Amino acid sequence: MRTISDLPNLEGKKVLLRADFNVPMENGEITDEGRIVSSVPTIRYLLDSGASVIIISHLGRPEGKPDEKFSLAPVARRLEEILGQSIFFSEDTVGSEARGVSKALMPGGVALLENLRFNPAETSSDPVVRLEFAKKLAGLADLLVSDGFGVVHRKQASVFELATLLPSAAGLLIQKEVEVMHRLTADVERPYYVVLGGSKVSDKLGVIESLIGKVDGLLIGGGMAFTFLAALGHRVGASLLEEDQIPNVKNCFAKAKELGVEIFLPTDILMSEKFSADAAIETASVENLESTKFGAQGIGLDIGPETSKYFASLISKAKTVFWNGPMGVFEFQAFSGGTKAIAQALSDLEGLSVVGGGDSAAAVRSLGFEDTAFSHISTGGGASLEFLEGKLLPGLEVLND
Ligand code: 3PG
Repeated sequence: MRTISDLPNLEGKKVLLRADFNVPMENGEITDEGRIVSSVPTIRYLLDSGASVIIISHLGRPEGKPDEKFSLAPVARRLEEILGQSIFFSEDTVGSEARGVSKALMPGGVALLENLRFNPAETSSDPVVRLEFAKKLAGLADLLVSDGFGVVHRKQASVFELATLLPSAAGLLIQKEVEVMHRLTADVERPYYVVLGGSKVSDKLGVIESLIGKVDGLLIGGGMAFTFLAALGHRVGASLLEEDQIPNVKNCFAKAKELGVEIFLPTDILMSEKFSADAAIETASVENLESTKFGAQGIGLDIGPETSKYFASLISKAKTVFWNGPMGVFEFQAFSGGTKAIAQALSDLEGLSVVGGGDSAAAVRSLGFEDTAFSHISTGGGASLEFLEGKLLPGLEVLND
């Protein structure tokens, strides 16, 4: 992979930096700035080398048209505070304002352009349309540094085509992420466990199938665990269930059995009368999740205390652990115990502990864990899962020599 140090003399050059500033927002406020902070080393490297930096990013899925809700303006303000210097913010991406900002930018200057996805060409399925848009972006600078690891699995104009038009290289964040991903794939220290949570099996089936052949154990929690439990014949009350996925889950069990890999499931669940922060709760064994006072109406919203201990003890025996997806509805304090227990177990681990994903990263930070509690918190959710799955990622492929 071409890296930033392979780029010719950066002094006086205008560099486009493709970052992933797709940060979670609530009422116009950034609720987790991990992705912004992770971009800072590359920005500083470029500024210290005498370049000026024009940052481009997407935020959310605005469907090809401007939408205030998805504006990068709040990110520009936060980045100014973090860098301690003012930033030019352009309200367009390839229009006259962007061209003016780029032209006026002096070495040491930083600009952020408005959300790339306000233009439908960025995410178009037509490569010709994407290339035309990428050409306009390329016209703004001399070089491209690609550093938005969270978006490298998307074949989009600024991620793929743009890198074919300008001398381009990976930034420091992508380099670090890829190094860790290699330690989880090509160069694994065993035992290697993967912990998966979150709501949908269907989103993670591909990675589950491919991991079965690679890991020593797969620990499943979160809403997706109920489809696994149902596939074993357990009743799950009104908990989240993807019935159409049961045959696929049964195939996973069969493959795991054939390869001698264990799939560890919860042994108890926190059942609740409704999806609410202050709902009544009862712990039930997975043998009969309908045995609580809520009967068949009960909803499982977190793994139970016995499962938390059981999963933590499995994790403590590992040399490498990758974790993606919460164990329960951690946003409600009453159902955050399982996710907290897994975060604690990973942070106690002496081996390699990797938290994957935008959402999982935001979860551990919101539960009070420092980034330094883990070996690595990835900025890529879908991207890190697709890397583990063994898929070719267009945004990385294009940076290969
Ligand atoms: C992410 O948050 O996973 C990346 O920023 C990619 O966003 P997308 O799923 O909307 O393409």
